[in-house]
Amino acid sequence: MASNRTFTMIKPDAVRNGHIGAILEQITVSGFKIVALKMTQLTIKDAESFYAIHKERPFYGELVAYMTSGAIVAAILEKENAVEDFRTLVGATNPEDAAEGTIRKKYATSLTENAIHGSDSDDNAAIESAFHFSFREQF
Ligand code: RTP
Ligand code: MG
Repeated sequence: MASNRTFTMIKPDAVRNGHIGAILEQITVSGFKIVALKMTQLTIKDAESFYAIHKERPFYGELVAYMTSGAIVAAILEKENAVEDFRTLVGATNPEDAAEGTIRKKYATSLTENAIHGSDSDDNAAIESAFHFSFREQF
């Protein structure tokens, strides 16, 4: 059964460009309830472990540098079919391929600096949520 929670980060480019409010607004009007929220900055160790699955990829170093370059906003979101529906709202990894109206189409600046993260499975949503939020910070 699909879980009803997913994890997201508004990435450093979108925070720098002043899009926190607009992105959170789009998320909530799209039917997601925010059940955890914080502004923080990833350490190099945090980013390396968060994206460890991409360790062998050529863009890994650039990805870690980007993800640690400034503040991020982390959140846990609740909605029926949360993981899949949120990936749809986020849009394709490359903003050039992202559908009209998606968060990446509107706010991403490049393939690397693509504004937002969304968990890709229920298992990863649970792991990523626990990485950022204690039990007491999840509502
Ligand atoms: P995310 O994990 O951040 O939600 O993104 P995603 O599933 O759509 O894409 P994924 O394949 O997991 O890639 C993770 C992030 O790495 C950066 N990337 N750069 N330069 C490149 O070729 C490249 N490819 C991916 C993006 O920031 C991507 O979101
Ligand atoms: Mg991914």
